[in-house]
Amino acid sequence: MHIVAEPGIFYFGTPVVLVSTRNPDGTANIAPFSSAWWLGWSCMLGLNGSSQTMQNIARERQCVINVPSADLVEYVDRLALLTGNREMSTYKKESGYRYEPDKFGVSGLTPASADLVRAPLVRECPIQLECTISRIEPFGEADPHIKSIKAVEALVIRAHVQESLLVPGTTKYIDPHRWKPLIMSFTEFFGLTEAIHPSLLSTIFAPQGGD
Ligand SMILES: Cc1cc2nc3c(=O)[nH]c(=O)nc-3n(C[C@H](O)[C@H](O)[C@H](O)COP(=O)(O)O)c2cc1C
Repeated sequence: MHIVAEPGIFYFGTPVVLVSTRNPDGTANIAPFSSAWWLGWSCMLGLNGSSQTMQNIARERQCVINVPSADLVEYVDRLALLTGNREMSTYKKESGYRYEPDKFGVSGLTPASADLVRAPLVRECPIQLECTISRIEPFGEADPHIKSIKAVEALVIRAHVQESLLVPGTTKYIDPHRWKPLIMSFTEFFGLTEAIHPSLLSTIFAPQGGD
């Protein structure tokens, strides 16, 4: 039986990403976000307008979307309730957020130079996507449950993938049996279990041999 429900959120389960950006003073910021999905080499991110990440993205029009595997969950959780923005919203203050200018230091993660953008890669993340920003649009303006959210469209211009995640002998196929994403579902962290059913869609995208 279904009943009419009023959940505060509909976060059914999406991969967590760590977005790294460059602050106005040239230092780096990283922050976890789970509103992220991809089509082709384009990524849509849902970012709070008052986050330091959003401000850095609006100014620099570039970022790195680092995708942590499930085993990095402790590093990711250290970044929760931190902001690189000194001017925190009342909501964040009341929720226990704290200003932290050195998020790499606090998390224990390591910055590394990117090839094409100024923001750093997160070395520990098995997937690091250097991006330029194509569009920034308002999101959820008619929704009383959120305010000041931006839909950010990022274009991947370089992808770094840990070799062990690729189908052997290719650079084009990430093997879903090797990739262990960190999933946020209703604000709790999860890993994926094993594959549960053969997939018809995979017959289109699976490697046909060679690259
Ligand atoms: C696992 C996780 C997922 C999050 N997902 C989002 C999200 O999708 N969008 C968002 O605006 N904030 C999200 N947050 C909150 C941001 O990380 C938070 O606003 C943070 O202060 C941003 O840091 P910054 O101000 O330095 O950019 C998430 C936090 C965690 C821990």
